[in-house]
Amino acid sequence: MSSLIQIWTATLDREPAQLAQFHALLDAEEKARADRFLREQARTRFTVSRGLLRIVLGQLLERDPASFAFTYGYNGKPELAEKTGLQFNVSHSGKRWYLAVAEGRRLGVDVERVRPDFATFEIANRFFAPREVADLTTFPAEERATAFFRCWTRKEAFIKAIGAGLGFPLHEFVVSLGESAELRSISGSIDAAREWSMEALIAPEGYCAALAVEGPVSEVEYAILE
Ligand SMILES: CC(C)(COP(=O)(O)OP(=O)(O)OC[C@H]1O[C@@H](n2cnc3c(N)ncnc32)[C@H](O)[C@@H]1OP(=O)(O)O)[C@@H](O)C(=O)NCCC(=O)NCCS
Repeated sequence: MSSLIQIWTATLDREPAQLAQFHALLDAEEKARADRFLREQARTRFTVSRGLLRIVLGQLLERDPASFAFTYGYNGKPELAEKTGLQFNVSHSGKRWYLAVAEGRRLGVDVERVRPDFATFEIANRFFAPREVADLTTFPAEERATAFFRCWTRKEAFIKAIGAGLGFPLHEFVVSLGESAELRSISGSIDAAREWSMEALIAPEGYCAALAVEGPVSEVEYAILE
């Protein structure tokens, strides 16, 4: 089992001709889901996201991108229907798209646009563990929104790695808020947290991105998809 993690990033804003190519790769269920989005931008971004995912999986597994079928966990986490050993997770925020791929272990990725108006103590109190809220108070006002979104993306990456969606209590595990990403404890257990790796991912100005992976990480390799 490799401890290398691959991160693929891209923009979701595409020309109509490219959009048609992505759309042609989707299966009937994905096309129906795309059609259910009321806003054109959401429809376009879902189509591009699934098209990009299929293209990368096709490259890695040397298969036709249109040939893949996905299954969904009880909270909607997509996985390849066929057992290939590859695990993946996708995140998008605004026009930024991230895909994380690993071999044989669970992982989650999250990217968020840093929105200072959202990064309030009221919201932190609702979603973060008490220690994380206390940590947030130690940052000077001008760094607080970034610290907030580091916390948010790290928590979200972990929730996505276990596929829990809203089904796992967010106060039950603690992450770091500083530059270096760390899962500190799960249900009070430092040993349980050590079974996981957490990484702050390189992100464009104004965004935060994080990765949570089961087991050790030797290297994070980045690729940009044009
Ligand atoms: C999907 C979920 C897990 C994340 O949503 P999000 O941050 O809005 O969206 P992201 O862009 O990061 O991820 C969406 C992608 O993750 C994947 N996904 C969907 N459900 C998932 C799940 N349960 N677990 C992991 N990945 C999931 C899909 O590929 C989806 O993309 P698609 O809809 O284009 O197929 C969301 O349903 C959720 O429940 N989040 C918890 C919200 C919360 O309270 N967060 C507080 C953080 S402190």
